[in-house]
Amino acid sequence: MKILQITDTHLFSPSDDEDDPPMLFGFNTFESLKHVIELVNKHDSAFDLVVLTGDLSEDESAGSYRRLAELLSTLAKPVYYLFGNHDNANMARQVFSEYPLFKHEREVILENWLIVLLNSKIEGKQEGNLAQGELDRLKSVLEKHSEKHALVCLHHNPVNMDPERFDKYILQNAKEFFSVLDSNVSKNVRGVMWGHVHQQYYSQRRDVTLMATPSTCAQFTPNETGIKLDYKPPGYRSLKLHKNGFIETEVRRLVFMPYEPSK
Ligand SMILES: [Fe+2]
Repeated sequence: MKILQITDTHLFSPSDDEDDPPMLFGFNTFESLKHVIELVNKHDSAFDLVVLTGDLSEDESAGSYRRLAELLSTLAKPVYYLFGNHDNANMARQVFSEYPLFKHEREVILENWLIVLLNSKIEGKQEGNLAQGELDRLKSVLEKHSEKHALVCLHHNPVNMDPERFDKYILQNAKEFFSVLDSNVSKNVRGVMWGHVHQQYYSQRRDVTLMATPSTCAQFTPNETGIKLDYKPPGYRSLKLHKNGFIETEVRRLVFMPYEPSK
C-alpha cells in the first residue's frame, strides 16, 4: 500500500485580481500546490489514498477549500483530511461534502493497516491539544484493530524540532499522547506523522517512526517552529506501508524554488 501526505497548503480564495493575488511569505500558495501536484503526477501515480494534515486554508474561506478539493480531485484517489490551527472545520466539511473523493472517516483500514486521524486543533489558538475524547478514541480504535499495523496522523508536532528552543505552538499535551503510545494498546503503532512545522523530520522513538513533512508552500528552518523562513522548495511525503509493518518513506520536493520566500 502506498499513501501520500500533503500538508499545510494555506490556500486563499481565488482573487478578483489574479495579477495581484494574496501571497503568504512571498508564495502564491495555490500555484505552489499546483507544482507539487504535478510532481505527484510525475513520480507517484500508483498510490491508494492521500492524507491532508491540516492548515489547508489560510483565509478559512469556502473558495479556498473549493480550490483545494478541485485540484486534489484530479488525482482520482480518495482524500482523507484533518484540520490545523488555520482551518475553519465547519466550512471545510461543508465544501468537501460536495466532492465524492473527499472522505470524512477519521479511521481508515487499508488491508492490514489502520490509519487514525486525530484532531489537535484548539479553536482560536495556534498551539495544539488532543482532547480527552480524542485520546480515548485513539486507545479504543487501536484496541479494536490490534491485529493491524497503525499509523497515527495529526497536525501539531508532538516533539520539539529543536530541543534547545522553547516551542510554544507544539502539541501541549504531548506527554499524554505519548503515554497512550507507550501503553499496551499501542503495540501495533508503527508511525506518527504531522504537518504544522513546515519542515522535514524523521526519527525513531522506541519502535515508532516519527515524521514531519514540508509544506506545499513556504518552509521554516529545521531548528525553529515559527516564522523563520528556510530556503527550501515545497514538497510532499510518500509512504509505502509494508505488510510486515515497515514504513518506507520519502519526501519529494520541487527541483526549483517557485517563489522567493519573504515576510
Ligand atoms: Fe502551516
